[in-house]
Amino acid sequence: MKRTFWKEAVVYQIYPRSFQDSNGDGIGDLQGIISRLDYLQKLGVDVVWLSPVYKSPNDDNGYDISDYEDIMDEFGTLKDWEQLLTGLHDRGIKLMMDLVINHSSDEHQWFVESRSSKDNPYRDYYIWRPGGPNGERPNNWSSIFSGPAWELDETTGEYYLHLFSRKQPDLNWDNPKLREELYKMITFWLDKGVDGLRMDVINLISKAEGLPSFQIEGEAPEELAWGGDYFMNGPRVHEFLHEMNQKVLSGYDIMTVGETPGASVEDAVLYTDEDREELQMVFQFEHMDVDSGPGGKWDVAPWTLTKLRDILHKWQIGQADKGWNSLYLNNHDQPRMVSRFGDDGKYRIISAKMLATLLHTLKGTPYIYQGEEIGMTNVKFTTLEDYKDIEILNMYRENVTEGGADHETILNAIHVKGRDNARTPMQWDASANAGFSEGEPWLKVNPIYKEINVEQALADSDSIFYYYQELIALRKKNPIMVYGEYKLLLPDHENLYAYTRTLDDEQWLILLNFNEAPQTVDLSAELSTVTDLIIGNYPDESPTREILRPYEARVYRLQS
Ligand code: NOJ
Repeated sequence: MKRTFWKEAVVYQIYPRSFQDSNGDGIGDLQGIISRLDYLQKLGVDVVWLSPVYKSPNDDNGYDISDYEDIMDEFGTLKDWEQLLTGLHDRGIKLMMDLVINHSSDEHQWFVESRSSKDNPYRDYYIWRPGGPNGERPNNWSSIFSGPAWELDETTGEYYLHLFSRKQPDLNWDNPKLREELYKMITFWLDKGVDGLRMDVINLISKAEGLPSFQIEGEAPEELAWGGDYFMNGPRVHEFLHEMNQKVLSGYDIMTVGETPGASVEDAVLYTDEDREELQMVFQFEHMDVDSGPGGKWDVAPWTLTKLRDILHKWQIGQADKGWNSLYLNNHDQPRMVSRFGDDGKYRIISAKMLATLLHTLKGTPYIYQGEEIGMTNVKFTTLEDYKDIEILNMYRENVTEGGADHETILNAIHVKGRDNARTPMQWDASANAGFSEGEPWLKVNPIYKEINVEQALADSDSIFYYYQELIALRKKNPIMVYGEYKLLLPDHENLYAYTRTLDDEQWLILLNFNEAPQTVDLSAELSTVTDLIIGNYPDESPTREILRPYEARVYRLQS
């Protein structure tokens, strides 16, 4: 396997709105990030992925861009951004920008032109369709943020497609002029020295020809339906990605990761096989659905390790020879991983370290989401007014206000799955607003901040922070963590995830207990060849190798 910097890197995601405010307006900004660069360097990460900082009316916190070549007012200026880039580079850290090109904001100049008349030169930059004979919508697709995916625009009497909010019209990738325009914009950033791109919902850019309705048996054809089959991994997506690669990306030594909801392992291999020249890795979502019932994301169901491991294992095997995995358990769209897959009570620290061990010892590139390295937890706001996320608010309105669902049930689903869990401000210290801002934060701070914060973590040599630091440092010294072959052990165990990594004549054994009860490790052959403990999440070594304590993680070196 070819050795590359992006396989070896550890990425740290910053959600700028919630990271650090420098001017007291309650909103994180670029100068705030700049003031925390030493912290990132101390952690040891190689790349920072910055969620969008472009000009935006913030209907979806920057994922609705009104000017791709300028910075959002609340965050600062292009000069601040350049200072950030230099500050990162001075510390040996690369910068990965978020690229949101499935849609723009409806306030982008292209859309302002596009909606102004049917024969405007920008009309075909977006996806417009006339209504049916009685003014019906062009098809029955629902938007990912609730309601229909079509909005009637009074000016020309036609509908435009928006897979997300109505302020996020989808761009028409079938139009070569639009594609050229996007490539020019990407070149603008790459020429400034950007080192990587995270591409937002990039597998949604090609829609099925004719935009067919999704017919559910027994339902009226106009009933709203999930049309994913007609826009996820669509007919021309590989052609478009290869074109973008050839026309722009291949000219730079950069890292690319595509966000690809609904991509199977087979799809992912097509996206990331190096010979195909599209992307380097994707964010897959299969493991993010382990706690969803038949009703989808908000239909909260219990997850099991068996299910989670089966999925992760499938992806490890599926991309063993071709393609490359990204490794993540949370980001700005997902609840906090320690609350979801660990224990955010008694075993918070131990279980957060166990999950970190998983993320850094599977094969792939680990992504750390801000606050994960101090074990930040989900938040439980009790009034809806405290939530700011458009996905949450639309979903609540559709289900409770309009649909009559039970408030408590939906609030509970928000507590478990809502995106604002990950977006509460970074907890820096025990002072007012957790040291995030001197003003009132745009989203309330998690009330637990006096206990869980960076200052506390840095002062405790046994903290989650230092465990991450150790894992990252280990990875730099041990190519086996990056390139070693993965092999699953104990495939039927309900609470243990066990595997080996092997590179040349070196072999490591990874043991992870996902349960609060101690577990017996039935691996006598492997355990009899242990030479030493490389890293573990308990301060002392267990008196017996055969027992893993609650949420214990151990990485052993085996005799070759
Ligand atoms: C995925 C992003 O991660 C999410 O935050 C956003 O709402 C949607 N794409 C739409 O851009």
